[in-house]
Amino acid sequence: MIISESAIGNHPCCGKIGTMTAWLPATPENIVRAAQVLREGGLVAFPTETVYGLGANALDERAAARIFTAKERPPEDPLIVHLSHAAHLEGVARSVPPLARTLAERFWPGPLTLILPKQPCVPDLVTAGLDTVAVRVPAHPIALALIEAAGVPVAAPSANRFGHTSPTTAQHVWHDLEGRIDILLDGGPTPIGVESTVLDLSTEPPRILRPGGVTREQLEAVIGPVTVWNRQMPPESKLPSPGLLERHYAPRARLLFFVGAKAWSALIEHLQAFLAEGKQVGILALDEEARQIEQQGALVYRLGRDVESAARRMYAGLRWLDSHQVDVILCRDLGESGLGLAIRDRLQRAAAQVIHT
Ligand code: TXA
Ligand code: MG
Repeated sequence: MIISESAIGNHPCCGKIGTMTAWLPATPENIVRAAQVLREGGLVAFPTETVYGLGANALDERAAARIFTAKERPPEDPLIVHLSHAAHLEGVARSVPPLARTLAERFWPGPLTLILPKQPCVPDLVTAGLDTVAVRVPAHPIALALIEAAGVPVAAPSANRFGHTSPTTAQHVWHDLEGRIDILLDGGPTPIGVESTVLDLSTEPPRILRPGGVTREQLEAVIGPVTVWNRQMPPESKLPSPGLLERHYAPRARLLFFVGAKAWSALIEHLQAFLAEGKQVGILALDEEARQIEQQGALVYRLGRDVESAARRMYAGLRWLDSHQVDVILCRDLGESGLGLAIRDRLQRAAAQVIHT
């Protein structure tokens, strides 16, 4: 079965701002209206090239506080500040090292978030009390137009309830946040599908705190070796980034994630055992592997032909399988090159169990 993104539905625009959410197509007029709402301290969900973000004026503490309430996000998880241009960096970052400039020139607008020393004007609430601020310039015309029109930096986490799967369509945002935000700007499915790469420049070599849309290979081609932080590294007194919780991005169903040389055959064994127990099984698989198992009785969501399309479709697949009430979801690791590393990071954290083969 081939699953396509569902068509953009009606826009149930209610025209009121408040606890009612207006779901609006991202026309130039609606972008101006949403920018006004941001300036007035409201909440606007908008597409970026990675996932949908839930934006508020990053310099307005009360507005930023509403993000945490709407998402039910714990206050110790800091937000990313979005700018329309790197020229505005000094407005939120106290200092910008040459390495950050190089990276900004090469990768912005784009899915790279840099951790920099924060300006005092950025409320502590936004950075969860840290002395640093996470900043990026998104590569999506709607996001850029919105931030530009608002004329303020925009704090925006992914527009999902805390701990849930990230949203890659306006429907996903509506499902999680309807009635909790002022405007949802609908710009269709997001093109990359996994969040930005979060890079810490305070260590030597720099380290990736969260793999994402800009790959390790792309970074290394510009700045040389980088490390990737992971939970298996020698224990530190605390997480380098408070948002790096082990359990995150989780679907409702129990997710089993298979890693290693025999991941696919182990997945098939588990599939057969679950089916024999009468369980409803969901599977995320690349097209070629999906074809091998489609007749076995599981609900199969095709991720496409390569890691890029898997990244784009992964979150939608988890949500789709959840909407079909499966008991368990099975998927295998897709390696660590390119976007594979980000996919592995998210599925490991979404998984109830990681099975090493
Ligand atoms: O692609 C993305 O990054 C999306 C879109 C909307 O831009 N945003 C996003 O935000 O994924 P969020 O809040 O879901 O993830 C922010 C990540 C968390 O892992 C958080 O811990 C980290 O950035 N972070 C934020 N500020 C930080 C800081 N000062 N130091 C270290 N990590 C930080
Ligand atoms: Mg998130």
